[in-house]
Amino acid sequence: MNATSATAISHPNIAFIKYWGNRDNELRLPVNGSISMNLDGLFTRTTVSFTSAKADVLTINSDQVTGKGLERVSYILDLVRLRAGINDRAEVTSENNFPAGAGIASSAAAFAALAVAASKAAGLDLSEPELSVLARRGSGSASRSVPAGFVEWKMGEAESDSYAFSIAPANHWNLADCVAIVNAAHKKTGSTEGHAIARTSPLQNARVADASRRLEICRNAILNKDFDAFANIIEHDSDMMHSVMMTSNPPLMYWQAATVEIFHLVREWRASGLPVGYTVDAGANVHVLCLGEYKTEVEKRLREIPGVSNVLVAGVGGAARTV
Ligand code: PMV
Repeated sequence: MNATSATAISHPNIAFIKYWGNRDNELRLPVNGSISMNLDGLFTRTTVSFTSAKADVLTINSDQVTGKGLERVSYILDLVRLRAGINDRAEVTSENNFPAGAGIASSAAAFAALAVAASKAAGLDLSEPELSVLARRGSGSASRSVPAGFVEWKMGEAESDSYAFSIAPANHWNLADCVAIVNAAHKKTGSTEGHAIARTSPLQNARVADASRRLEICRNAILNKDFDAFANIIEHDSDMMHSVMMTSNPPLMYWQAATVEIFHLVREWRASGLPVGYTVDAGANVHVLCLGEYKTEVEKRLREIPGVSNVLVAGVGGAARTV
Protein backbone atom coordinates (compact mmCIF):
# COMPACT_ATOMS: atom_id res chain seq x y z
CA MET A 1 0.00 0.00 0.00
CA ASN A 2 1.24 3.53 -0.75
CA ALA A 3 1.69 5.82 2.24
CA THR A 4 -1.71 7.25 3.01
CA SER A 5 -2.39 9.93 5.47
CA ALA A 6 -5.39 11.58 7.17
CA THR A 7 -5.87 14.23 9.85
CA ALA A 8 -8.84 14.45 12.23
CA ILE A 9 -9.88 16.74 15.03
CA SER A 10 -12.04 15.83 17.97
CA HIS A 11 -13.30 17.55 21.10
CA PRO A 12 -13.12 16.19 24.65
CA ASN A 13 -16.50 15.67 26.32
CA ILE A 14 -17.81 16.16 29.82
CA ALA A 15 -20.05 13.39 31.19
CA PHE A 16 -23.30 14.52 32.84
CA ILE A 17 -24.30 10.95 33.69
CA LYS A 18 -21.01 9.15 34.27
CA TYR A 19 -19.87 5.68 33.36
CA TRP A 20 -17.61 4.07 35.95
CA GLY A 21 -16.80 0.36 35.71
CA ASN A 22 -16.83 -2.07 32.78
CA ARG A 23 -18.59 -5.39 32.36
CA ASP A 24 -15.75 -6.29 29.97
CA ASN A 25 -12.46 -4.44 30.53
CA GLU A 26 -10.81 -5.61 27.30
CA LEU A 27 -13.74 -4.55 25.09
CA ARG A 28 -14.53 -1.56 27.33
CA LEU A 29 -18.20 -2.47 27.57
CA PRO A 30 -19.63 -0.27 30.36
CA VAL A 31 -21.81 -1.34 33.28
CA ASN A 32 -24.14 1.61 32.64
CA GLY A 33 -25.09 4.05 29.89
CA SER A 34 -23.88 7.67 30.01
CA ILE A 35 -24.68 11.15 28.66
CA SER A 36 -22.24 13.94 27.79
CA MET A 37 -21.63 17.10 25.82
CA ASN A 38 -18.68 17.80 23.53
CA LEU A 39 -16.49 20.75 24.49
CA ASP A 40 -16.05 23.28 21.72
CA GLY A 41 -12.76 25.19 21.56
CA LEU A 42 -10.80 22.38 23.26
CA PHE A 43 -9.51 19.85 20.75
CA THR A 44 -7.04 17.15 19.78
CA ARG A 45 -5.70 17.16 16.23
CA THR A 46 -4.23 13.84 15.09
CA THR A 47 -2.53 12.83 11.85
CA VAL A 48 -2.06 9.16 10.95
CA SER A 49 0.24 8.18 8.07
CA PHE A 50 0.71 4.54 7.11
CA THR A 51 4.31 4.08 5.93
CA SER A 52 6.88 1.38 5.24
CA ALA A 53 8.49 1.99 8.67
CA LYS A 54 9.19 -1.06 10.87
CA ALA A 55 7.16 0.04 13.92
CA ASP A 56 4.38 2.42 14.92
CA VAL A 57 5.69 5.81 16.09
CA LEU A 58 3.66 8.13 18.34
CA THR A 59 4.37 11.82 18.96
CA ILE A 60 2.16 13.83 21.35
CA ASN A 61 2.71 17.59 21.64
CA SER A 62 6.17 17.18 20.03
CA ASP A 63 7.32 14.45 22.51
CA GLN A 64 7.86 10.90 21.32
CA VAL A 65 5.78 8.45 23.37
CA THR A 66 6.76 4.79 23.93
CA GLY A 67 5.64 2.07 26.40
CA LYS A 68 2.01 1.87 27.53
CA GLY A 69 0.92 5.03 25.69
CA LEU A 70 2.20 3.67 22.38
CA GLU A 71 0.76 0.18 23.07
CA ARG A 72 -2.73 1.66 23.53
CA VAL A 73 -2.47 3.46 20.19
CA SER A 74 -1.04 0.39 18.39
CA TYR A 75 -3.99 -1.64 19.74
CA ILE A 76 -6.41 0.63 17.85
CA LEU A 77 -4.16 0.68 14.76
CA ASP A 78 -4.16 -3.17 14.82
CA LEU A 79 -7.97 -3.21 14.77
CA VAL A 80 -7.90 -0.84 11.78
CA ARG A 81 -5.17 -2.84 9.98
CA LEU A 82 -7.10 -6.07 10.48
CA ARG A 83 -10.27 -4.55 9.08
CA ALA A 84 -8.52 -2.90 6.11
CA GLY A 85 -6.35 -5.96 5.38
CA ILE A 86 -3.07 -4.02 5.57
CA ASN A 87 0.17 -4.52 7.48
CA ASP A 88 1.78 -1.10 7.26
CA ARG A 89 3.02 0.56 10.44
CA ALA A 90 1.89 4.11 11.20
CA GLU A 91 3.28 7.44 12.22
CA VAL A 92 0.81 9.12 14.59
CA THR A 93 1.22 12.79 15.51
CA SER A 94 -1.16 14.38 17.98
CA GLU A 95 -1.58 17.77 19.62
CA ASN A 96 -3.93 18.98 22.38
CA ASN A 97 -4.71 22.57 23.23
CA PHE A 98 -5.63 21.68 26.86
CA PRO A 99 -3.89 19.83 29.77
CA ALA A 100 -3.86 16.02 29.43
CA GLY A 101 -4.69 13.54 32.22
CA ALA A 102 -6.37 16.09 34.49
CA GLY A 103 -10.03 15.14 34.27
CA ILE A 104 -10.69 16.97 31.01
CA ALA A 105 -11.15 13.76 29.04
CA SER A 106 -7.96 14.08 27.01
CA SER A 107 -8.14 10.35 26.22
CA ALA A 108 -11.69 10.78 24.89
CA ALA A 109 -10.62 13.40 22.35
CA ALA A 110 -7.41 11.48 21.58
CA PHE A 111 -9.02 8.12 20.76
CA ALA A 112 -11.94 9.68 18.85
CA ALA A 113 -9.49 11.61 16.64
CA LEU A 114 -7.30 8.49 16.27
CA ALA A 115 -10.26 6.30 15.22
CA VAL A 116 -11.38 8.81 12.59
CA ALA A 117 -7.88 9.57 11.22
CA ALA A 118 -6.59 5.96 11.23
CA SER A 119 -9.65 4.44 9.55
CA LYS A 120 -9.66 7.16 6.89
CA ALA A 121 -5.90 6.81 6.27
CA ALA A 122 -6.39 3.04 5.87
CA GLY A 123 -9.04 3.65 3.20
CA LEU A 124 -11.98 2.47 5.35
CA ASP A 125 -15.33 4.23 5.13
CA LEU A 126 -16.83 3.58 8.58
CA SER A 127 -20.27 4.72 9.75
CA GLU A 128 -20.61 6.94 12.84
CA PRO A 129 -21.60 3.97 15.09
CA GLU A 130 -18.63 1.96 13.77
CA LEU A 131 -16.25 4.87 14.50
CA SER A 132 -17.77 5.23 17.97
CA VAL A 133 -17.20 1.50 18.67
CA LEU A 134 -13.59 1.76 17.44
CA ALA A 135 -12.91 4.84 19.60
CA ARG A 136 -14.49 3.03 22.59
CA ARG A 137 -11.87 0.27 22.37
CA GLY A 138 -9.19 2.89 23.18
CA SER A 139 -11.09 4.72 25.92
CA GLY A 140 -14.75 4.21 26.78
CA SER A 141 -15.57 7.90 26.93
CA ALA A 142 -14.00 8.38 23.46
CA SER A 143 -17.10 6.69 22.01
CA ARG A 144 -18.99 9.86 23.04
CA SER A 145 -16.58 12.29 21.32
CA VAL A 146 -17.46 10.85 17.89
CA PRO A 147 -21.06 12.16 17.46
CA ALA A 148 -21.95 15.89 17.68
CA GLY A 149 -23.38 18.00 20.49
CA PHE A 150 -25.28 16.27 23.31
CA VAL A 151 -24.54 12.56 23.21
CA GLU A 152 -25.71 9.32 24.81
CA TRP A 153 -23.62 6.13 24.91
CA LYS A 154 -25.85 3.09 25.29
CA MET A 155 -24.51 0.04 27.11
CA GLY A 156 -25.57 -2.22 24.26
CA GLU A 157 -25.89 -5.98 24.35
CA ALA A 158 -22.62 -6.83 22.60
CA GLU A 159 -19.42 -5.39 21.17
CA SER A 160 -20.97 -3.90 18.02
CA ASP A 161 -23.98 -2.13 19.55
CA SER A 162 -22.32 -0.37 22.47
CA TYR A 163 -21.84 3.01 20.76
CA ALA A 164 -22.77 6.65 21.22
CA PHE A 165 -25.25 8.74 19.25
CA SER A 166 -26.33 12.37 19.27
CA ILE A 167 -29.50 13.12 21.28
CA ALA A 168 -29.46 16.82 20.32
CA PRO A 169 -27.23 18.90 18.01
CA ALA A 170 -24.68 21.39 19.36
CA ASN A 171 -26.98 24.38 18.70
CA HIS A 172 -29.91 22.81 20.62
CA TRP A 173 -29.04 24.49 23.95
CA ASN A 174 -26.55 27.26 24.64
CA LEU A 175 -24.67 25.77 27.60
CA ALA A 176 -21.12 26.63 28.68
CA ASP A 177 -18.66 24.56 30.67
CA CYS A 178 -16.33 26.71 32.82
CA VAL A 179 -13.61 24.29 33.91
CA ALA A 180 -11.96 25.47 37.13
CA ILE A 181 -8.40 24.10 37.10
CA VAL A 182 -7.34 23.38 40.68
CA ASN A 183 -4.66 20.87 39.75
CA ALA A 184 -3.21 20.68 36.22
CA ALA A 185 -0.87 17.77 37.09
CA HIS A 186 -1.34 14.34 35.55
CA LYS A 187 -3.54 12.29 37.90
CA LYS A 188 -1.92 9.39 39.79
CA THR A 189 -4.61 6.80 39.11
CA GLY A 190 -5.99 6.77 35.59
CA SER A 191 -9.54 5.78 34.75
CA THR A 192 -8.54 2.43 33.23
CA GLU A 193 -7.29 1.30 36.68
CA GLY A 194 -10.29 2.98 38.31
CA HIS A 195 -12.84 1.08 36.20
CA ALA A 196 -11.17 -2.20 37.20
CA ILE A 197 -11.71 -1.58 40.94
CA ALA A 198 -15.18 0.05 40.76
CA ARG A 199 -16.87 -3.24 41.68
CA THR A 200 -14.95 -3.38 44.97
CA SER A 201 -17.10 -0.54 46.34
CA PRO A 202 -20.26 -1.76 48.10
CA LEU A 203 -21.98 1.33 46.65
CA GLN A 204 -21.35 0.43 42.99
CA ASN A 205 -24.30 -1.97 42.63
CA ALA A 206 -26.71 0.67 43.92
CA ARG A 207 -25.22 3.31 41.59
CA VAL A 208 -25.56 1.02 38.56
CA ALA A 209 -29.06 -0.20 39.48
CA ASP A 210 -30.28 3.41 39.58
CA ALA A 211 -28.58 4.52 36.33
CA SER A 212 -31.59 4.33 34.00
CA ARG A 213 -33.53 6.69 36.29
CA ARG A 214 -30.72 9.27 36.20
CA LEU A 215 -30.25 8.87 32.43
CA GLU A 216 -33.94 9.57 31.84
CA ILE A 217 -33.98 12.67 34.07
CA CYS A 218 -30.85 14.05 32.43
CA ARG A 219 -31.99 13.27 28.85
CA ASN A 220 -35.34 14.99 29.50
CA ALA A 221 -33.69 17.98 31.19
CA ILE A 222 -31.49 18.47 28.10
CA LEU A 223 -34.32 17.96 25.60
CA ASN A 224 -36.62 20.35 27.57
CA LYS A 225 -33.77 22.78 28.38
CA ASP A 226 -34.74 22.58 32.05
CA PHE A 227 -31.62 23.97 33.72
CA ASP A 228 -32.67 23.41 37.31
CA ALA A 229 -33.45 19.70 36.75
CA PHE A 230 -30.21 19.44 34.76
CA ALA A 231 -28.04 20.99 37.52
CA ASN A 232 -29.58 18.81 40.23
CA ILE A 233 -29.12 15.53 38.34
CA ILE A 234 -25.53 16.18 37.19
CA GLU A 235 -24.42 17.06 40.74
CA HIS A 236 -26.21 14.01 42.13
CA ASP A 237 -24.64 11.71 39.53
CA SER A 238 -21.13 13.13 40.01
CA ASP A 239 -21.40 12.80 43.80
CA MET A 240 -22.55 9.18 43.39
CA MET A 241 -19.60 8.27 41.17
CA HIS A 242 -17.11 9.90 43.55
CA SER A 243 -18.74 8.07 46.49
CA VAL A 244 -17.98 4.81 44.66
CA MET A 245 -14.41 5.95 43.96
CA MET A 246 -13.79 6.90 47.58
CA THR A 247 -15.15 3.60 48.89
CA SER A 248 -13.41 1.25 46.45
CA ASN A 249 -10.39 -0.83 47.35
CA PRO A 250 -7.88 0.80 47.11
CA PRO A 251 -9.83 4.03 47.66
CA LEU A 252 -9.59 6.80 45.07
CA MET A 253 -9.85 10.38 46.28
CA TYR A 254 -9.62 12.82 43.37
CA TRP A 255 -10.93 15.93 45.15
CA GLN A 256 -8.72 18.70 46.54
CA ALA A 257 -9.80 21.28 49.12
CA ALA A 258 -10.59 23.78 46.35
CA THR A 259 -12.78 21.18 44.60
CA VAL A 260 -15.09 21.02 47.64
CA GLU A 261 -14.97 24.78 48.13
CA ILE A 262 -16.31 25.20 44.59
CA PHE A 263 -19.16 22.70 45.25
CA HIS A 264 -20.38 24.86 48.16
CA LEU A 265 -20.11 28.10 46.20
CA VAL A 266 -21.87 26.69 43.11
CA ARG A 267 -24.81 25.60 45.26
CA GLU A 268 -24.95 29.01 46.96
CA TRP A 269 -24.84 30.79 43.60
CA ARG A 270 -27.64 28.60 42.25
CA ALA A 271 -29.77 29.21 45.35
CA SER A 272 -29.35 32.94 44.76
CA GLY A 273 -30.51 32.69 41.12
CA LEU A 274 -27.38 32.06 39.00
CA PRO A 275 -27.98 29.06 36.67
CA VAL A 276 -24.92 26.90 37.53
CA GLY A 277 -24.25 23.25 38.40
CA TYR A 278 -21.06 21.23 38.95
CA THR A 279 -19.68 17.89 37.84
CA VAL A 280 -16.22 16.30 38.24
CA ASP A 281 -14.61 13.51 36.19
CA ALA A 282 -11.61 11.44 37.35
CA GLY A 283 -9.59 14.44 38.55
CA ALA A 284 -9.75 17.42 40.90
CA ASN A 285 -10.91 20.02 38.39
CA VAL A 286 -14.51 21.17 38.57
CA HIS A 287 -16.67 21.54 35.46
CA VAL A 288 -19.15 24.31 36.24
CA LEU A 289 -21.99 24.18 33.71
CA CYS A 290 -24.06 27.31 33.14
CA LEU A 291 -26.39 28.88 30.62
CA GLY A 292 -24.18 30.43 27.93
CA GLU A 293 -25.16 34.03 28.70
CA TYR A 294 -23.72 33.72 32.23
CA LYS A 295 -20.31 32.30 31.28
CA THR A 296 -18.35 35.55 31.75
CA GLU A 297 -19.83 36.07 35.22
CA VAL A 298 -19.17 32.42 36.21
CA GLU A 299 -15.60 32.54 34.89
CA LYS A 300 -14.95 35.77 36.86
CA ARG A 301 -16.30 34.28 40.09
CA LEU A 302 -14.28 31.06 39.67
CA ARG A 303 -11.04 32.99 39.05
CA GLU A 304 -11.48 34.76 42.40
CA ILE A 305 -11.43 31.47 44.37
CA PRO A 306 -8.08 30.72 46.08
CA GLY A 307 -6.62 27.50 44.65
CA VAL A 308 -8.09 28.01 41.18
CA SER A 309 -5.11 28.48 38.84
CA ASN A 310 -7.00 28.83 35.57
CA VAL A 311 -10.48 28.59 34.05
CA LEU A 312 -11.14 27.11 30.60
CA VAL A 313 -14.46 28.05 29.00
CA ALA A 314 -16.07 25.82 26.36
CA GLY A 315 -19.37 25.82 24.52
CA VAL A 316 -21.10 22.80 22.97
CA GLY A 317 -18.86 21.09 20.39
CA GLY A 318 -19.43 19.29 17.12
CA ALA A 319 -18.52 15.80 15.94
CA ALA A 320 -15.07 14.28 15.41
CA ARG A 321 -14.16 14.96 11.78
CA THR A 322 -11.41 14.74 9.20
CA VAL A 323 -9.83 18.04 8.19
O1 PMV B 1 -13.15 6.59 29.22
P1 PMV B 1 -12.29 6.64 30.41
O2 PMV B 1 -11.61 5.34 30.68
O3 PMV B 1 -11.32 7.78 30.32
O4 PMV B 1 -13.20 6.89 31.70
C1 PMV B 1 -13.93 8.07 31.90
C2 PMV B 1 -14.54 8.08 33.22
C3 PMV B 1 -15.20 9.38 33.66
O5 PMV B 1 -14.67 10.47 32.94
C4 PMV B 1 -14.89 9.60 35.13
C5 PMV B 1 -16.71 9.30 33.50
C6 PMV B 1 -17.23 9.43 32.09
O6 PMV B 1 -18.32 8.90 31.85
O7 PMV B 1 -16.61 10.10 31.25
